[in-house]
Amino acid sequence: MAVLSSCEPRGTDLASMYQPVDEIPNPVTFSWLKSRVFDPVCSQCHHHDGLFTSEAALLSATAGGEHYVVPGNAAASLVYQRMTDSLDPMPPDGMLEARYSEAVRQYIESLAP
Ligand code: HEC
Repeated sequence: MAVLSSCEPRGTDLASMYQPVDEIPNPVTFSWLKSRVFDPVCSQCHHHDGLFTSEAALLSATAGGEHYVVPGNAAASLVYQRMTDSLDPMPPDGMLEARYSEAVRQYIESLAP
């Protein structure tokens, strides 16, 4: 099986350890993100703060006066900022593959400001 495993893609892809990887839907919905990214990855640590348990919880969450999600503005949203911050990433042990942060970006941008 060494031959097979050497063909597997390299890189940090925690979500694929828990869920089969599939196409990112258009539009990206909260429930898709919850099942593919938030539940399997983020809530491993963030379960205590309940951040990702519902869309309402996520949209109302703040830290230090900043919003986790600013509808229509991914760049201003803590969740997107930290998922794309190579110096201070979420998850802390390394950024997920870009398609996951891109899905989060699309979701946030699709929300009405
Ligand atoms: C291994 C545990 C762990 C995982 C997995 C994890 N987090 Fe975190 N997260 C933390 C800790 C601890 C903090 C507080 C310290 C910090 O901000 O670095 C934090 C802070 C944050 C903050 C910043 C809050 C603030 O005060 O600015 C955001 C946003 C965040 N996490 C989002 C996520 C997202 C999105 C995921 C999934 C892609 C995720 N986290 C996965 C442990 C984790």
